[in-house]
Amino acid sequence: MPQTFNSADEMVLALEPDGPVRGLRPQASARAARWFLENFPGDVVYALKANSSPELVASLTDAGISQFDVASLREIDKAASFGATTIHYMNPVKSRKSIARAYFDFGVRSFAVDSREELEKLIKETKRAQDLRVFVRLSCEGHLSRIPLDRKYGVDGEAAAELLKLARQASDEVGLTFHIGSQALNPDAFTTAMAAAEKVIVRSGVLIDVLNIGGGFPSRYPDCTPSSLALFMDCIGRQYESMALGSACRLMCEPGRALVAEAESVIVRVDARRNEELFISDGAFGMLYDAAHAGFTFPARRLGPGPARQSSLHPFSLWGPTCDSIDYMKGPFFLPEDVAEGDYIEIGQLGAYGRSLSSGFCGFGAYQDVLLEDEPILSMYRDMNVASGPDNVQSSIS
Ligand SMILES: Cc1ncc(COP(=O)(O)O)c(C=O)c1O
Repeated sequence: MPQTFNSADEMVLALEPDGPVRGLRPQASARAARWFLENFPGDVVYALKANSSPELVASLTDAGISQFDVASLREIDKAASFGATTIHYMNPVKSRKSIARAYFDFGVRSFAVDSREELEKLIKETKRAQDLRVFVRLSCEGHLSRIPLDRKYGVDGEAAAELLKLARQASDEVGLTFHIGSQALNPDAFTTAMAAAEKVIVRSGVLIDVLNIGGGFPSRYPDCTPSSLALFMDCIGRQYESMALGSACRLMCEPGRALVAEAESVIVRVDARRNEELFISDGAFGMLYDAAHAGFTFPARRLGPGPARQSSLHPFSLWGPTCDSIDYMKGPFFLPEDVAEGDYIEIGQLGAYGRSLSSGFCGFGAYQDVLLEDEPILSMYRDMNVASGPDNVQSSIS
């Protein structure tokens, strides 16, 4: 179990770490989970790819999330070890062996497909199982999201309606699913995709059992203030009510980012300063992948001894520790203008995909984990009056 500190400042004073430290705040992911469970009008399923740290996943399951969306057999294995009640294997293209192992060894019944060939594969590899739940993955525009996911998967129009009919014949339950892209900025992304799903339902004449609206719910970053999550829920709820669905149809979502983004940060040391560029102990091949490759900016602050060292904020770019010149995070990262070699900085909002995308390139990528009890640098949920939830949320992770 990682050591617990009141704050990142306390941690650097105590440990003076040489390498990067991941600061976990399971209380932040628990708060996000409680908010989703209270406000989403359907099932909340966690997209495990966003972060599979045992401490953060425990905070979600203790808060009441017990279903997982997974993309691979290894994630199925992990989800099972976390005590998942239901595992949804939502990668639309899967190997034959992974379908058979998911069904027969792990009891997975819920699968996504986006083509007739993938449906036939699923039917064959599960030996014509009668208890499948098949989701048809619809294609979906991604222009209202920071990371569009519209180029790879999905089917639409007549082909989608035909696939839905075939899925109905082959499975116990059918659903439609889509992904509007990660970090949606505006709830119209959901309402437009839900309206498109309704057209497929009408065209096919198939009554679906589940509408899975995927992930895409936003978090907050310094250069990106999306509509409030409350507005997202409002718009989704209204659109759902207006749709021509059978009364037994359930709604489901698969958030990743919005549940865990706030719950992990990285604490790094400045190993060199050259003008407005800082060389730090983590980077593009580590927790800062999205800062380098997807142009995200993240909140940063200097840690350590107090007010005497405060100076006005200045924009910096960052270099990671590897030999590669793509190991560069343009930022801007706003830090005190006198930041210097030997200072520690915390870079926040890295809980979604930071850990998942890290590698060990050049011998880096070894992290020490600590639990931090203070508030994350930015929070979507801080003022949202989230009920405190079950008493065991903290106890199981401390
Ligand atoms: C099928 C599926 N569901 C859910 C998610 C989670 O998305 P987000 O982190 O944007 O909520 C993803 C992310 O790629 C995904 O592919």
